[in-house]
Amino acid sequence: MTTYETLLIEKTDGCAVVTLNRPAKRNAMNPGLHRDMTAALEELRNDEAAKAVVITGAGDVFCAGMDLKEFFVELKDKPAEYEAVWKMAVEWRGRTLRYYPKPVIAMVNGYCFGGAFSIVEGCDLAFAAEDAVFGLSEINFKLFPGGCVSKSLANLLRPRDALYYGMTGDKFDGVEAARIGFINKAFPKDKLVEETMNIARKIAAKDVHALRATKDGYRFSLEMSWEAAMNYSMAKELELVQRQSDAWRKEGIQDFLEGKYKPGLETHPG
Ligand code: ACO
Repeated sequence: MTTYETLLIEKTDGCAVVTLNRPAKRNAMNPGLHRDMTAALEELRNDEAAKAVVITGAGDVFCAGMDLKEFFVELKDKPAEYEAVWKMAVEWRGRTLRYYPKPVIAMVNGYCFGGAFSIVEGCDLAFAAEDAVFGLSEINFKLFPGGCVSKSLANLLRPRDALYYGMTGDKFDGVEAARIGFINKAFPKDKLVEETMNIARKIAAKDVHALRATKDGYRFSLEMSWEAAMNYSMAKELELVQRQSDAWRKEGIQDFLEGKYKPGLETHPG
């Protein structure tokens, strides 16, 4: 695996943990981090040791959003470079994560501001420390949730919550983030890694092709008419048969019919 200046990547038990690693700058996303993340996600895409990807932050911080200095200020008079970084920044959070062929999980261990909301939203699942601090801080410095953040809010939050937090800039904690559905669940800080990694490992142990179909089926159906979604679903079923040599019938269903396990209660042992 390549070594990245702004990321730490560790692989364990079928999971890759990607840590945003600029703690001195509260893991703010500078242009280098966007470049590194774009490259790392491409590298992990075909890495069989990474069946699920967990994204977290170094130290006690998840991510302080975009790097206000290196992005907004230092690139202000370089419009071509600004736009190139802007596109890269929205692409990996807004699209790459969303359509990534494997499960992606955000593990929010502390401050999570502005642009970091789009990391959380782009991931399939998200967990946070109960005392993590979330905030759409843009309004506090006379900006609005730009880039892909407004779209992230529209995708996931109820209108009242998105507009309340967007307009007030009020902070909220992990418990509130779970209550409003921005994350799946909050854990006590000292349990966050253990609980999140248990879930990541559980998911990583499932059939990789079935996982991919699960994610694709949900993500793409959202954008389709009923007719297109049913057509896609049948095509997806046939693709799954092709990708895993019909393992869901030959092993998954067959072993149930032979009384070897109960899929309602446990995962296939093979
Ligand atoms: N961009 C660039 N640098 C940052 C950012 C950021 N988003 N956040 C923190 N830093 C830097 C600080 O400038 C400081 O650098 P220095 O040591 O060279 O002076 C260093 O990180 C530490 O920051 P402190 O403010 O001293 O750390 P503290 O722990 O007290 O506070 C906090 C952390 C709350 C995150 C604070 O830094 C902050 O409010 N940051 C801005 C958060 C924000 O509004 N992000 C933008 C969201 S909008 C968007 O993403 C488009």
